[in-house]
Parts: sequence; structure tokens; C-alpha cells
Amino acid sequence: MANTILVGAQWGDEGKGKIIDVLTEQADVVVRTQGGNNAGHTVHLKGQKYVLHLVPSGILRKGKVCVIGNGVVVDPVSLMTEIEGLRKLGVRINKNLFLSETAHVVFPYHRELDAQRETRKGRQKIGTTKRGIGPAYGDKAARTGLRVLDLIRPERFREQLAARIKENNEVLKAFGARPLSFKQVHEAYRQAGDYLAPFVTNTVVLLHEALRRGDNILFEGAQGTFLDIDHGTYPFVTSSNTTAGGACTGSGIPPHRMDRVVGVMKAYTTRVGGGPLPTENAEIADMLHAMGREFGATTGRPRRCGWFDAVATRHAAMVNGIDDLAITNIDGLDTMETLKVCIGYRCGRTRFDYVPSDVEVLSQCEPIYAEFPGWRTPTHHARKWRDLPPKARAYLKALAELTGANLAIASVGPGREQTIFV
Ligand code: GDP
Ligand code: IMO
Ligand code: MG
Repeated sequence: MANTILVGAQWGDEGKGKIIDVLTEQADVVVRTQGGNNAGHTVHLKGQKYVLHLVPSGILRKGKVCVIGNGVVVDPVSLMTEIEGLRKLGVRINKNLFLSETAHVVFPYHRELDAQRETRKGRQKIGTTKRGIGPAYGDKAARTGLRVLDLIRPERFREQLAARIKENNEVLKAFGARPLSFKQVHEAYRQAGDYLAPFVTNTVVLLHEALRRGDNILFEGAQGTFLDIDHGTYPFVTSSNTTAGGACTGSGIPPHRMDRVVGVMKAYTTRVGGGPLPTENAEIADMLHAMGREFGATTGRPRRCGWFDAVATRHAAMVNGIDDLAITNIDGLDTMETLKVCIGYRCGRTRFDYVPSDVEVLSQCEPIYAEFPGWRTPTHHARKWRDLPPKARAYLKALAELTGANLAIASVGPGREQTIFV
């Protein structure tokens, strides 16, 4: 399989968890390189549903090494709870999971500040997951963050945490929020630190050893291209580089050792949280929600839904260098009579064939649509390309062509077996 970066080509929740699970069969190592427990990656396996937040989705396959890389921000209490939850479901986690010593730690003041800033923004709020992701990456950039290697050194950690709580309590007070108790935070984080210590290592060295062995490494992207801090619909984004470059900086594996980029996208578009979504459409949202689909895996919020946006996915193919595409949730469109695909944006007299950087401009863009006939047949039983109705095949071919990448995987259900290699 070689070294593969998997990214979301839309606004997150493209079905990355499912595709990671499928591709892990051919991988030796699976690495998360950015984001935190804002991610929610769903894998359905033998009637059991798993939602992964910080632990790489590769953990569900035996004999694979999973790594939480240096670019991730880690809430240690949440990670401990996630590992315990997975163990209760019978997932073996022992010497197959590693946590980077230089990953930054998310603290309760990050979560509290995240919530306070959102409240102050009012209608302009980002709609964050309130997991403290933005403030934690903020501290990292400001060089005021604590890392996993600090967390697991009790004496040093006590001192550093005391100073950080003191400073952040001042900020919280200015927001009119309740200050945090050092004692409570310290106790919870020390316990989590002891629990996680056996997993902690220098993951850069570990990954380079894997490279020397000739192992296949799969980089599990979180969020999606248009939530990227540089390339997304700023400020309605997350705080990390969700695009392919983030896999290098977030792991310590250099760009020239990467062999392939896989872009995952839904056969339609969804977004959770605020910010522009040019192809948003009530009809498709109502249909999907009525089917019980498109509710957030992390927060349970209903996702906003719209037609497939090929302007956005073409832009994503450009920024990420996407070679191969995995198109998911094809079965979600089984009942539609006509399908629209956005092939351009019109904003006043200007036509865009890329995603404009200014969200004010993007918000005013009107999609230009092409129409495709629906197949109106259930697809969830399809296992081979030829099992798909001809109209579905034509639709998928068009999405890949408009995006400008090779169609490699088509997904017709959440299960591992509901996967077609094209
Ligand atoms: P991720 O964050 O990109 O991993 O995606 P999420 O897990 O948040 O959301 C994707 C949802 O779609 C999950 O509920 C998956 O189980 C589900 N899913 C993935 N692929 C398919 C598919 O082809 N068909 C159906 N029906 N569901 C899918
Ligand atoms: P996965 O990996 C979808 C969104 C939030 C919000 C914005 C900022 O499951 O695809 P944050 O908490 O990161 O500061 O929120 O980003 N967001 C996601 N949307 N999928 C995700 O992850 C997301 N992670 C963050 O809804 O709009
Ligand atoms: Mg998700």
C-alpha cells in the first residue's frame, strides 16, 4: 500500500473512519497527526458501532500499530476514558498504541475558554465542539502549552500546572466565568498521566524505525479540507492543518516519503457548525435526517446537508494533491429523482471555479448546478462496480472527473463489506 495520507475532502465527517478501517488491512501502522477529540470517526464492525475520537481507527484490526502523533492535541482524561471504553468492548489495547511525548495537552481552561469565546461571538459563533481545541493550539503557538512529556513528570507538572491555572483563572474571571480549582485539575490529570505513561514514547523515532523496516504507514486525517486553519473557510475552521501537509509536520515523516494521498468525500455535502456552505439544501437535509442520518458523531448535532460541491472538492484535490478518491454514503441518495452537482459559483458578475478565500464573498456565491438523473434503486447490497445501477456509476464517474482524481473506492453502507474497489 506504501505510505498513504488520508484526508477529508469536504467539511469533515466524510466517512474517514470507515475508509481507514478498510485500508488498515494493508497497513502496518496507522497514525493520527492533527486535531484532537473534536474528531468522531465511526466504524461499524460485526453489528457493533465504534466511535473513535483520539485513538486511530486502525486499532480495531489485530496486529496493527497505532500512533497518536506530535501534531495532535490530547485531552488525557478523555483519552483514558476512550481507551477504557474500547477495552470494555473487547478491543485489545496493549503495546499496539503509542502516544507522542511532544503532543500538546488540552486542559479544562481550554474547554472553558472555548465555550466563553463562543458565547461572546453570539450569532457569529463558529459552532465548535467545545473540546478546547482552539485555545490548546493557541497555547502551543504562543509557547505557553504543556506537553505529554510534562504531564508524566509529576514534580515538574505540579509547578507548571499551578502557573498555568493561575494565569488562566485571571482570564476566566475577566470573562465572568468560574475559576478552576488547581487541586481538582491536578488530581484528575495526574491520574490520567499515570494511566497513559506506558503508552508515551518518541513517536518520531518509532515511525522512522517503521519506515526503515519497510512498513506501510497510513496517516489518518481528522476534520476536512475546508476546516483547515490555512485553507478552510476561516474563521469558521478548526485550529490545525487538516490538509495533507499536516500529516508530515504532525508525525515527523518528511514529504518525499509519502506515496499517495486518498481523499474521502460523501456523494453529497455535509457540515456541522457555522460558516458558509454554498450548496446547502433543505430538501436533502430533511430527507437524510428523516432517515436518522447525518447527526454528529461527537456532539450529536444535526449536520447541515447539501448537494455535492465539485468546486470545493476540486479545490481540495489541488491543495492536498489527491491521487485517489473514496466516495461514501452513495446509498444516501438512493431515493432521489434528480441529483444536482455544483460545477461553479457565481458571485455578482464573477464566476469562480475555486473556493474564494473571503467567507463574505463565499457566503454570497450562488451555485451553478449540473443535473443528473437519480437511480432510485437500493445500492447497499452492491459489492462490485457492476452491481451498481448504471446511473449511479455515471454519477460517481462524473464526481471523480469534476474533482480531478481517480475513483478508487465506492462505499454503499457503513460496514466494512459494503465497499467497492473500483
Ligand atoms: P468521519 O469523521 O469522516 O470518520 O465520519 P463520521 O464517522 O463522523 O460520519 C460518517 C458517517 O457515515 C458515520 O455514521 C459512518 O458510519 C457512516 N458511513 C460511512 N460510509 C457510509 C456509507 O457508505 N453509507 C452509509 N449509509 N453510511 C456510511
Ligand atoms: P471529523 O474528524 C466535522 C468543526 C466544528 C466547528 C469547527 C471548529 O469527525 O471529521 P473545533 O471544536 O475543532 O474548534 O470546531 O470545526 N469540526 C468538525 N466538523 N467533523 C469533525 O471531525 C470536526 N471537528 C471539528 O463543528 O464547526
Ligand atoms: Mg466525524
